[in-house]
Amino acid sequence: MTVSKGKKAAFNAALEAGKYIKERLGNIKRIDYKGAFNIVTDVDKASEAMILEFLKSDFPDDSYMAEEGGGSEAKKNDRRWYIDPLDGTTNFTHTYPFFCVSIGLEEAGKMILGVVYNPMADELFYAERGLGAFLNDEPIHVSSIAELNNSLLATGFPPDTGNVPNNNMLPFTTLTTMSHGVRRDGSAALDLCFVACGRLEGFWELKLAPWDIAAGSLIVEEAGGRVSDLVNGPLDMPTGHILATNKLIHDEVVGVMQKIDVK
Ligand code: IPD
Ligand code: CA
Ligand code: CA
Repeated sequence: MTVSKGKKAAFNAALEAGKYIKERLGNIKRIDYKGAFNIVTDVDKASEAMILEFLKSDFPDDSYMAEEGGGSEAKKNDRRWYIDPLDGTTNFTHTYPFFCVSIGLEEAGKMILGVVYNPMADELFYAERGLGAFLNDEPIHVSSIAELNNSLLATGFPPDTGNVPNNNMLPFTTLTTMSHGVRRDGSAALDLCFVACGRLEGFWELKLAPWDIAAGSLIVEEAGGRVSDLVNGPLDMPTGHILATNKLIHDEVVGVMQKIDVK
């Protein structure tokens, strides 16, 4: 399989699922809870089914990790798709118009393709390893701001924020006082794309799932940014602690994380 064939399939899947999600905004038929606050709607599930149908018809031998349980392990090759059919479900449920579809492809343990589509803004972010990052076909690059105190950041919190000890509140308050501010916009995949296109200088979050960060992390790297865990180690998808920046402020943010001993 060439990456370009995967790109076409991922574009079609993301655009069609995004169109569907947008049409269903304000018209949710069913809300369930995975735990106390983690929402899943019928739209998340229908979007996932749609994406899997698109991809699996072209790539039946690949493996699929999908948030709402529709994935499958073919184990016939070393390719795996990571699918978040609706990143920003809480926003979507409240008709807050900031959510996306995120599709990433890994081959031999490396992300090789990332596609993130925001249907409300009609913005399609994508990257192929080694070929740069794009927004609606225009090349994108991270920002050139080099100091944390001139930076705009974003973060996020897990749905069970109140019940866990390592809940990101200390990094949030600390970095808020050291920067132009920290946004909490509710879609990790879009936050990463905003770093990639220079709207944010940095984004971090703890305990994200692989489908939240697979596509966006490649898009940041291909846009010239840096992606690591919170203390500058390699990104570990199963742990899901991520720091993505324009590279220039990376060490400064890592220094803050180390000082406040984020684990
Ligand atoms: C969530 C969003 C949010 C992040 C949460 C994620 P979901 O994904 O990415 O920004 O803070 O940790 O779970 O549930 O809307 O797909
Ligand atoms: Ca998500
Ligand atoms: Ca989701």
